[in-house]
Amino acid sequence: MAASKPKPVVKSKSKDNIIVTAALPYANGPIHIGHLLEYIQADIYSRFLKLTGKNALYICASDMHGTPVEVNARKVGKEPEQFALELWKEHQQDFVSYLINFDNYYKTHSPENKEISEFFYRTLKHAGHIYRKKVQVIYCQNCKRYLPDRYVKGICPYCKALEQYGDVCEKCSKALKGVELIEPKCSLCGKTPIQKESEHYFFKLSLFAKKLQKWFSAPKSRIQPEVKNWLNEWMKKGLEDWCISRDAPYFGFEIPDSEKETGDKKYFYVWLDAPIGYISSTKNYTDAHGQKWDDYWKKGQVEHFIGKDIAYFHFLFWPAMLMAVGIPLPKLTVHGFITVNGEKMSKSRGTFFTAKDFLKLYNPEALRFYYAYHLNRSLVDVDINFEDMKSVVNTVLVGNLSNFCYRVLMFAEKNYGEVDIIAKDKKLIDEVKVLVKEIHKNYSEMDFRLALRNILKISDIGNIYFQKAEPWKNPNSKESKAVVGLCVALARNLAILVSPILPEFSRKVAVAFWDDISSWNWKLGGWVWKGKLAPVEMLADKIEKVPEAQQFPLRLVVGKIMEVKNHPNADSLYLMKVDLSGGVGMKQVVAGLKKYLKPEELQGKKAVFCANMKPAKLRGEMSEAMILAAGDEQKVAPLFVAKSEIGEEVCFESMTNSTAEVTFEEFSQLKIIVIEGKVVYEGKKLKTRSEEVSVAGVKEGARVR
Ligand code: MSP
Ligand code: ZN
Repeated sequence: MAASKPKPVVKSKSKDNIIVTAALPYANGPIHIGHLLEYIQADIYSRFLKLTGKNALYICASDMHGTPVEVNARKVGKEPEQFALELWKEHQQDFVSYLINFDNYYKTHSPENKEISEFFYRTLKHAGHIYRKKVQVIYCQNCKRYLPDRYVKGICPYCKALEQYGDVCEKCSKALKGVELIEPKCSLCGKTPIQKESEHYFFKLSLFAKKLQKWFSAPKSRIQPEVKNWLNEWMKKGLEDWCISRDAPYFGFEIPDSEKETGDKKYFYVWLDAPIGYISSTKNYTDAHGQKWDDYWKKGQVEHFIGKDIAYFHFLFWPAMLMAVGIPLPKLTVHGFITVNGEKMSKSRGTFFTAKDFLKLYNPEALRFYYAYHLNRSLVDVDINFEDMKSVVNTVLVGNLSNFCYRVLMFAEKNYGEVDIIAKDKKLIDEVKVLVKEIHKNYSEMDFRLALRNILKISDIGNIYFQKAEPWKNPNSKESKAVVGLCVALARNLAILVSPILPEFSRKVAVAFWDDISSWNWKLGGWVWKGKLAPVEMLADKIEKVPEAQQFPLRLVVGKIMEVKNHPNADSLYLMKVDLSGGVGMKQVVAGLKKYLKPEELQGKKAVFCANMKPAKLRGEMSEAMILAAGDEQKVAPLFVAKSEIGEEVCFESMTNSTAEVTFEEFSQLKIIVIEGKVVYEGKKLKTRSEEVSVAGVKEGARVR
């Protein structure tokens, strides 16, 4: 990774120990650009703290427990732990590629997290804050299992919103219990589940109501006004005690003594051990660095960044638990949601971009810049409008900031190779100093939007100054040299100021000073820098095109059929081994083609496969990809592509493939058809690099599936 880890500049007292966290993403799917808003926001803040000499640690982890992970893992025939570990690795790669500089990225299924979760539990139990109670839970007779909250869907009992999961209503943000849902349905099989009795553990949240109220009413808690309103409403309705246990099968930590006490193994509800993951990830770091986690959590300061959907957990359950074990309460910042072109991201509309998809189109710093340009510690949603992003990146990042720094450094290096004289323009310097102070304040208040506006004012001042002095007319005069010297100092200061937002941009500027960015800090900016310069690289890229580009929800890839066998348990199915090369590899594919084609008609052929389908077991055999075929009841023709290479991406004209996993249902909704022998989606033809995909012998309008 290009970005380096700024070390604390001064040995700090513990009041300078700060933990910055972002919510722990579930290890059940890929990171997408919605998630990235938060990881970038917290990254900017922690980089700023480090730049100003604070001993800050940016701490995160993958959230591995709970039903979404357990159920998704079972569907693909994997153990939950293995499944989650794979995503844990993938998450880390994605974060690195967006220059997100965690000091520790850990996981919740860890020995540290088990130990600290049990410590919390025992402490709460000893203090008498935990009790057992028999409750009605939801059981699906068809699936023969208890249904955790996320596996029942129904109507919210409070605001009557449809299609809500049983843990939290996305409309009114109220925490729910599965049994409260009106007209519940099992989200695994769609049947109506029954209620059953089971004994569970409860945390007396109600005991903490007064203390919580006091905490969030205090001005120094810095709670955003919108959040305060929610809190007041929740308080008015009264806090109910919180069920912290779940029935098997559940991927999580077993509750000590639960079998003895209730007759069944019970597990900690994921939301009990997930926030404790903030502490255990810190411990994992401090243990490895000869430090103590208490030095941060008890003597320092904790700053959480979260999305508005998880406010209830972070403003009520979590602080109450912390109070109960005697850990000081954190500060929290809540952000709004990312929408694309004004709407919620959606796979079928082609506006769901994984972190990886977005990087195929743009530079990571384009996204960092665009997010920073909008982030101001309010809860307003941030819309990605690609036209807007193009104009912000091209006119502001490239046209103003980058243009000034690049032009000045290039001019100085080419003409002089060094700086040995600097203009003493007191008025300009004073004006900039005021802005620098302002920028410090903006960053401290997490108003990155304003910080960036003020940084841009400095590059405006520089651009005007350089332009007016016209040093290119007489480069060798003392005046020109001095003016350029001051501009170089401005560029250096700009790179320091913007480094929390654009670490790679700043790294490149540092290289022009023969410097290592990790040695830069806030105080370094001054007006007396003299020394040798190195050639400067291009600092930022223009955005050439916006995705007229719809994203196509499937990832279509050329694969070669290496082996065709009969399916052991189904008469109409083949079992094939397919080489999809490169990023995908060898996959097993179950295909219903036996009625239509002989094995030798498939063996050794190249065809179009869908590589981002959710793997599924078909009659006991895993199918990890799907062969696309056109046809009707009489004739079915696979999409053969003889002229194309194995592993090549196959795209519809002007669309890009998505890598996010799709279900068979999502796939079935896509209307891909055959027109004049070509494969077409929304009027666009399917192509590889070397051919248009064609099929012969099927009816006009035949569906591809
Ligand atoms: N695992 C829990 C958090 C546990 S923290 C102790 C979780 N995970 S998540 O993967 O669903 O979300 C992680 C974070 O990303 C949350 O803060 C969530 O609000 C944020 N976002 C997820 N989708 C988002 C957008 N579309 N836009 C902005 N933020 C989004 O919740
Ligand atoms: Zn069911």
